[in-house]
Amino acid sequence: MFDRSRRGEHALLIHPHRSGADPDAEQEFNELARSAGAEVVASLGARLERPNPATLIGSGKVEEAKLAADASGADLVLVDHQLSPVQERNLEKALGRRVVDRTGLILDIFALRARSHEGKLQVELAQLRHLATRLVRGWTHLERQRGGSIGLRGPGETQLETDRRLLQKRVDMLQKRLDKVEVQHAQMRRARERNAIPRVALVGYTNAGKSTLFNTLTGAGAYAADQLFATLDPTVRRLRLPGAGVLVLADTVGFVRDLPHELVAAFRSTLSEAREADLLLHLVDAADPLREERIAQVDAVLEEIGAGDLPQVLLFNKIDRIEGAVARHDPAVGGSRERIWMSAQRGDGLDLLRDALDARFRSRRVVGELDLPPQAGRLRARLHALEAVAGETAGEHGWRVRVDLPAAVAEQLAAEADGAPLRALLPAREETD
Ligand code: GTP
Repeated sequence: MFDRSRRGEHALLIHPHRSGADPDAEQEFNELARSAGAEVVASLGARLERPNPATLIGSGKVEEAKLAADASGADLVLVDHQLSPVQERNLEKALGRRVVDRTGLILDIFALRARSHEGKLQVELAQLRHLATRLVRGWTHLERQRGGSIGLRGPGETQLETDRRLLQKRVDMLQKRLDKVEVQHAQMRRARERNAIPRVALVGYTNAGKSTLFNTLTGAGAYAADQLFATLDPTVRRLRLPGAGVLVLADTVGFVRDLPHELVAAFRSTLSEAREADLLLHLVDAADPLREERIAQVDAVLEEIGAGDLPQVLLFNKIDRIEGAVARHDPAVGGSRERIWMSAQRGDGLDLLRDALDARFRSRRVVGELDLPPQAGRLRARLHALEAVAGETAGEHGWRVRVDLPAAVAEQLAAEADGAPLRALLPAREETD
């Protein structure tokens, strides 16, 4: 019912701006449109000195847009600005085409990309909420227009009340389901905390290469595509390092500037992976001329979700696109953050990244071999339950077990009667009687 996919639709883009055109913003909006599957057939700038409450852009510009849309055969108009429901409706009437604003477009991309159960619920909820404000006006004016309004055709004024009620019901149902999923996630997170497995989150501007790096590091098949927001759901995998043992690595949704606030809220779960991480790997497209701005924009979102103070390593990715650049590791000096220059695609610098992670988390783990007699079966079972067994061989006199577990957990276990064999692996402590 609410499928608003617009693959293959021809779009006219309108870029409203206050003070001078911003080619970077225009380029980004172009890419957003492309990510939604639209083909951009024309674009127009529009000065917004005195925004028109009825149509946002001035009446002359509306006429110009109508001519441009007719001439280019556009069946959809995308406006790089937030539109009130009234403005959207007036523009649709004047232009004779469906009009989608920035929030609507980003939501649409989110809807196309969401893969997990939770991601899909969140997207639908955000879409319905967005739609609810628009539903008030009815959609009858669109029925008179030809084609291109998949999912928007339908209700006449008489249907409106029913639709509104149904919509509210669905919103309530989705919210309930989401609350449940969130509780499950929280439980999973608590379980991870009990095991004290360090968590590392990949964050960065959209298209920086997070999914590519995630796949390379974990050997997983997360989706990497040259499209914005290829990753919508937190994809979480384990990563095993020689010294630091197991880490949990989370891929997160790409950040974009001016992400509408209501969407930041809708993607709480994705972003909570970032908020609760022990370390953020902040990926940057090193070949992007605007990389410093992108870094600042990502930092601003991190700040907003309460992850601004977490330790960060900057990963300058895509060095294969910079002439003469080679992989290297710059430790943090003065105010500047630790950085690694690398190429996730070619694999350059991955060793430097693994070493950096290993060094950072090594001290927090206990790794070694234990000879467990048959009567230590309980300890062995607990180690297995904690996923602390990296390998074992059974012999005549019990098991030889290679353990790998967080130091805090090892200490706790060793203090218990069952855990005595573990004490040999812990650093000697001075007795303080
Ligand atoms: P979002 O999901 O939008 O946040 O993107 P992402 O940060 O996960 O980026 P993704 O891994 O999907 O990569 C985006 C594009 O950059 C893809 O076309 C990748 O193949 C490409 N890419 C990733 N790493 C590198 C690299 O090291 N060098 C080059 N040249 N391209 C890369």
